[in-house]
Amino acid sequence: MKNQELFPDGFLFGGALAGNQYEGAFDRDGKGLSIVDVEPAGPKRENMLAHPKQYLEPRSDLYYPSHQAIDFYSHYKEDIKMFAEMHFSALRLSIAWTRIFPNGDDAEPNEAGLAYYDRVLDELEAHNIEPVLTISHYETPLALVKTYGGWKNRKLIDFYLRFAETIFKRYGTRVKYWMSFNEINCILDNPFIAGAIVLDDETNPLQTIYQASHYELVASALATKKLHELVPGAKMGCMLAFSPYYPATSSPDDQLAALQQNRTALFYGDVHVRGRYPAYMQRFFEENRVQLERTEEDKHILRDYPVDYIAFSYYKSFVVSADHPGHVASGMFDSVDNPYVQKSAWGWPVDPKGLRYALNVLYDRYQKPLFIVENGLGAKDQVEPDGTIHDDYRISYLNDHLIQAAEAIKDGVELIGYTSWAPIDLVSAGSGEMEKRYGFIHVDRGNAGSGTLVRRKKKSFDWYRRVIDSKGATLKADLTQRTV
Ligand code: BG6
Repeated sequence: MKNQELFPDGFLFGGALAGNQYEGAFDRDGKGLSIVDVEPAGPKRENMLAHPKQYLEPRSDLYYPSHQAIDFYSHYKEDIKMFAEMHFSALRLSIAWTRIFPNGDDAEPNEAGLAYYDRVLDELEAHNIEPVLTISHYETPLALVKTYGGWKNRKLIDFYLRFAETIFKRYGTRVKYWMSFNEINCILDNPFIAGAIVLDDETNPLQTIYQASHYELVASALATKKLHELVPGAKMGCMLAFSPYYPATSSPDDQLAALQQNRTALFYGDVHVRGRYPAYMQRFFEENRVQLERTEEDKHILRDYPVDYIAFSYYKSFVVSADHPGHVASGMFDSVDNPYVQKSAWGWPVDPKGLRYALNVLYDRYQKPLFIVENGLGAKDQVEPDGTIHDDYRISYLNDHLIQAAEAIKDGVELIGYTSWAPIDLVSAGSGEMEKRYGFIHVDRGNAGSGTLVRRKKKSFDWYRRVIDSKGATLKADLTQRTV
């Protein structure tokens, strides 16, 4: 690294996306419905996610943002060209399972879907952008929920593997970095989004959630095995949502509460990396009456096929107090206010140093290469009458987080890349909104589907290109974050 450069040669620098949030074309070229395609935007969304059973058929009175999204499906050349203008060396994207297996359990893949991703990969290759692929990003085929109950059912492992093997064979020579499940631990808080699970009738939801998690963990290990067999040199990562919990005070009870909360995410990393269930889960399972169906063969599979690297998303940190431990599954989104950090317009704590902390925690624990595959600021943007967008708040957020990522590298952490969420405005996974914007590229589309889909560069567009070109030398070392 030259003087002033903060990121090494070969560092994967770019952006991250998920098919269901930007592709649109939800029923084109043989694509089937995924769970996202029945998640409405607007006032019914929360109810749908809490009680999905009543919403599994698309309804004409609801608006589904994934159906058109930002229509990357038709705009992919234009969009990839803009990513190339920012000099991305990597783009993380997902393969929509339902483009390849419309119902999830089909015997043969859908050639039109495979051919679409050939074209996308061609375009990336033409611009020297390395694809980083997520196999499953919150877009399980809806038919697998209706017929099999989603990841509650062990059969999902086979369907997932058929999908994984198909795309390894088709794209393996062109893709080195893969991820098995996006934010696998989010199944704790969003069982429908992350696990395609309908919980309505459960007497003990944790039992169902951890059983489904187990099947996903076995599927992930088997996909790792298959990837290594089919594509020597390819790397499989797990992907965690990692929002570290700080203890609210120095009270030993708060320390223990933070330890427990952090384990809700780390459990998934522990199994993926160490290949076995950590000892602390035994007590948790006993106390929560969770009895998993785990075969001897499962144990061997987990042991024999650990991941090669750890990918994670980082947006925020939380604070936990023993008096307010959060809800029983994980507490991921219930926490005590932190007076030392600011908040985004959506109330997400903004804590750049938490990223350095997270990187160190994960590296201390696993000693595996780390990859920040999501980090960014969801904000309201204002388009000025002349079409410009001055998103200085986004620049500040990213500047400060990248500085902290560089600090972690100096701490000795092996960090292989950073893909910002998301390089272009897209549909929010959490809220279904378009106006929660993350991009360097603005897309003219509103929450209810209005707009021309015209793309515009924001101020952050050139800023990010300069950061990439200079390998971080243009970043401001002092924290610049202001109220957002
Ligand atoms: C991550 C997801 O949780 O956070 C993405 O992997 C998501 O799919 C991103 O879009 C930001 O969250 P949201 O709710 O603002 O879209």
